[in-house]
Amino acid sequence: MIKNIFGWLFSPLGRIALLIGGLTVLSLAVWGISLTQASPEQPIQFPHNRHVNFGIQCLYCHPGASRGPVAGLPTQTKCWGCHQQMQITETSELLKPLVQAVENNEPIQWVPVAIVPDFVQFNHRPHIAAGVNCEDCHGDMTQVTIAENPQVFNMGWCLNCHKEHSVDNPELRTKLLDCGTCHY
Ligand code: HEC
Ligand code: HEC
Ligand code: HEC
Ligand code: HEC
Ligand code: HEC
Repeated sequence: MIKNIFGWLFSPLGRIALLIGGLTVLSLAVWGISLTQASPEQPIQFPHNRHVNFGIQCLYCHPGASRGPVAGLPTQTKCWGCHQQMQITETSELLKPLVQAVENNEPIQWVPVAIVPDFVQFNHRPHIAAGVNCEDCHGDMTQVTIAENPQVFNMGWCLNCHKEHSVDNPELRTKLLDCGTCHY
């Protein structure tokens, strides 16, 4: 049986099948990376860097991060609070979709970029409470125009940091590495 499989694998047809198989795996991997790392087409080309550099706090637009699991995205009402008083809003091409959303009272459909699969329970609050900074996980937003993931949110990434934060606390380590902490 094994000999048969190897015999087939090294036949011309087998080689083509291998090549196609390999290419499929490769393209899936590339797709996976693009899914998690490329910045998607957003309804508004919202420039993080200019807002953050202007001195607006992350928690002003994402207040949920210190309260619970979800950081939350700002609605157009929050944008409008500043932008209705700003000259740039009348002239900017980039801001046309915002003006439209406000006039039509339609929510802006942001495309999520920072996501973990459904079977993972992530909660912002304990991280913020423990003094972990937004940029430790989301990168330096003063350098970012359209938000993208600086790294893939995989299990090894979570566990590495959980290990680092519990070197001299065995009890905390047990909790932070327990499967049930993130999967339940
Ligand atoms: C003026 C409001 C505003 C400020 C200030 C702001 N953000 Fe955002 N943030 C947004 C909007 C709008 C989006 C959705 C558009 C996008 O993803 O680019 C977003 C998206 C994100 C995302 C991607 C979320 C997702 O999956 O859709 C992350 C991560 C993020 N912000 C982190 C931060 C951090 C960290 C800071 C502070 C350094 C910050 N933001 C400051 C408005 C803001
Ligand atoms: C606290 C005030 C404030 C809030 C809230 C705010 N912005 Fe801004 N926004 C600014 C300032 C100030 C600038 C100009 C920054 C600069 O000079 O580089 C700006 C610039 C922009 C620009 C660039 C316009 C251009 O043509 O260059 C876009 C797009 C934009 N904001 C979208 C948004 C959206 C969408 C929201 C809501 C998610 C939002 N802003 C919320 C203050 C704000
Ligand atoms: C320990 C790592 C970590 C820290 C610290 C962190 N985040 Fe997140 N953030 C994540 C992960 C993981 C997700 C994806 C969560 C999901 O899919 O349920 C996420 C999702 C988000 C999102 C999009 C989904 C949502 O929850 O609304 C925003 C916006 C965001 N984070 C903003 C922030 C801001 C602002 C801070 C700082 C106040 C921050 N994050 C701190 C890891 C982190
Ligand atoms: C940059 C470091 C860092 C990363 C990355 C990180 N965490 Fe954490 N996590 C912490 C710290 C610190 C705590 C709080 C420990 C304490 O209670 O003092 C924590 C606590 C938690 C808790 C609460 C545990 C409890 O019951 O109190 C959960 C759940 C959690 N993390 C899930 C995740 C998941 C899921 C990921 C990956 C998507 C992740 N974390 C990535 C540092 C991190
Ligand atoms: C600190 C959070 C955290 C802990 C603790 C954790 N996981 Fe995960 N796990 C994740 C995240 C995030 C993913 C999704 C990303 C990925 O696929 O790596 C994941 C994915 C998985 C998957 C899907 C397959 C895979 O690797 O993609 C399995 C199975 C799994 N975890 C099992 C476990 C088991 C068993 C334990 C206990 C030994 C455990 N996890 C502990 C965060 C955690």
